[in-house]
Amino acid sequence: MPEWLNALPKAELHLHLEGSLEPELLFALAERNQIALPWADVETLRAAYAFNNLQEFLDLYYAGANVLRTEQDFYDLTWAYLQRCKAQNVIHVEPFFDPQTHTDRGIPFEVVLRGIQQALLDGEKQLGISHGLILSFLRHLPEEEAFKTLEQAMPFRDAFIGVGLDSSEKGFPPRLFERVFAKARSEGLHAVAHAGEEGPPEYIWEALGLLKIKRIDHGVRAIEDERLMQRIIDEQIPLTVCPLSNIKLCVFEHMGQHNILEMLERGVKVTVNSDDPAYFGGYVGENFAALHEHLGMTEAQAKRLAQNSLDARLA
Ligand code: ADE
Ligand code: ZN
Repeated sequence: MPEWLNALPKAELHLHLEGSLEPELLFALAERNQIALPWADVETLRAAYAFNNLQEFLDLYYAGANVLRTEQDFYDLTWAYLQRCKAQNVIHVEPFFDPQTHTDRGIPFEVVLRGIQQALLDGEKQLGISHGLILSFLRHLPEEEAFKTLEQAMPFRDAFIGVGLDSSEKGFPPRLFERVFAKARSEGLHAVAHAGEEGPPEYIWEALGLLKIKRIDHGVRAIEDERLMQRIIDEQIPLTVCPLSNIKLCVFEHMGQHNILEMLERGVKVTVNSDDPAYFGGYVGENFAALHEHLGMTEAQAKRLAQNSLDARLA
C-alpha cells in the first residue's frame, strides 16, 4: 500500500467485529476452547473464502463465530482488530457486533459485551483510537427477537451509540423492524442499517423513511434511483461503502466497475470501509489501495474519502 494512503487519518464506520476473525485466531480459539473444526487447517479454511453472494458468506461467517465463547475471546478478537487499525492510521472506529449470533448459542450478552468493551477502552488508552459501538440486529430473525436483544442491552445502555441491521438482505426489508428501531431511538440511540447492498433502492427509502437512519451501510444500489440519489446528495446522508466486500460477494464483477468514485464525484458523502476484513481480503488500507489501483483514485479523492469518514462519525 502506498505510504501516503497509509498515513491519511481515517475512521472506519462499517466493520463487523465477527468479520475481523482471522483464520489463525479462529484456529487458536478453537484449540483454547477445545472445539472441533470442520476445516483441516488455516489454508483449507482460507480456500473456502470464495462466495457467489451474501448468503454463502454469511453461512461461513456464522460458522466461524462459533469459536467465540469467553469474555477473553471477544477481547482478543477486538484487540486484534484495533492493532490493524493502529497500523493503518485508523483513528476512530464505530464497529458492529451481532449479539444474537452469540446469545442464540447460549453465550450471555454480558460476556460478549464486556470483552468487546474492555478492548475498546484499552484501545482508546493504549492506542489512541476513539470508538462508538453499534449493536446490530439480525434481519433474518423476527422483530420480536430484536426486541429481546434490545431489552438485554438496556442495562448496558451507555456502552452503545446506536443500533444497526444486518444479515440476509433480500426478502427481509427494513419495514419489518420499524417498531424496534423506534424503541431504540426513543432510548437515544442512533440508527443505521444495511440497505442497497443486494437489496433494491426501495429498501434504502424504507430505511430512511421508516427506520430514520443516520447513515446507510453499503447503499451502492442507490445509483439505480435518481430521486434517491438527489435526496442523499441534498441531505448529505453518508454511505459506508465496502469495496472489497462488494467484489467478494459479487455485487460488482470487477473493482474496475465499482461506483464509489462516480458517487463521490456526484457529491454523495461516501466513505471507505472493510466490512468483514478477515473474509474479504483486507482492512481499510487495502480497500483504499484497491481503489487507487483499479479505479485510478487520486490523492485528492482519497483525502476527500478519508475526510468524509471523519465527518460521518456518530460518536
Ligand atoms: N454481516 C456481516 N457482514 C455483512 C454484510 N456485508 N451484509 C449483511 N450482513 C453482514
Ligand atoms: Zn456489513
